[in-house]
Amino acid sequence: MSTEQNQYGEEELKLFDDIKSGRTFDLGDELPPFYKKHLLNLLWMQGDSEYAGALGYMPWIEKAPSLHEKVLVAQIVKDEMRHAQVVYRLLDGLGEKTLDHTNTKELGYKIEEDEAQIGFKRVKDDYRVNIFYYNIKYWHDFILFNFLMDRAAGHQLEDTLESSYLPWKKNIAGIFKEETFHVVHGDKWIGILAQDPKEKPFLQERLNLWWPRVMNVFGSTRSQTNDLYVRLGLKKRTNGEIRQAFLDDILPLCKKWGLEVPDYKESDQPT
Ligand SMILES: [Fe+2]
Ligand SMILES: [Fe+2]
Repeated sequence: MSTEQNQYGEEELKLFDDIKSGRTFDLGDELPPFYKKHLLNLLWMQGDSEYAGALGYMPWIEKAPSLHEKVLVAQIVKDEMRHAQVVYRLLDGLGEKTLDHTNTKELGYKIEEDEAQIGFKRVKDDYRVNIFYYNIKYWHDFILFNFLMDRAAGHQLEDTLESSYLPWKKNIAGIFKEETFHVVHGDKWIGILAQDPKEKPFLQERLNLWWPRVMNVFGSTRSQTNDLYVRLGLKKRTNGEIRQAFLDDILPLCKKWGLEVPDYKESDQPT
């Protein structure tokens, strides 16, 4: 308790208590600066991830394997861009300048090296979750992104369904529903590729590449910031808990399709 007293002032400890007892914040409410700072961090991270995600998916409208799939990918791109719009509007409402940001940052930037592993590193001065720096090179990658990353995002957004910041909470239900559709698309295609003996080895190869990247999106399980988000009512579970929920969901699916999940060690990841 003594370290905690050192780390946070009386005002913050009172805020944690109030939030624990159900205090929420709505549009027009004055936000405690400490709360606002952490809320902005999370919103920027989501906004830039949705936006960079949409841009990263865009080339796949053209490259998708059938006209039907081109329509589905176009729909997914539209969904992600709409998610970005929703979150950027929340940020603008809090006095941020998202249009200047998207006009000046390179949110379409991708790492060119196909097998790069950046661990927990940042690459540019935007706020996207760092998996959105990797290039989607093959259709298998696009599908793995739906199968793994949209599913991981779903688990993370689940916490926002109960956010202490009400405008975010109200908007997240629609986003969550659309992410579920992306996951269904991934599940369908993982089944198709895994049952095709010509495609399965390459699918496994690409899964090996994407697996640590996806595991890293849950952040460090030792992160202090994450506990703070929980105390501010901006998340419900710690990084480690959300990662475990994702694993409980994904591992049986990989097993069902005969896909092997590579070993992952958080301590091996570059920081
Ligand atoms: Fe999204
Ligand atoms: Fe998505």
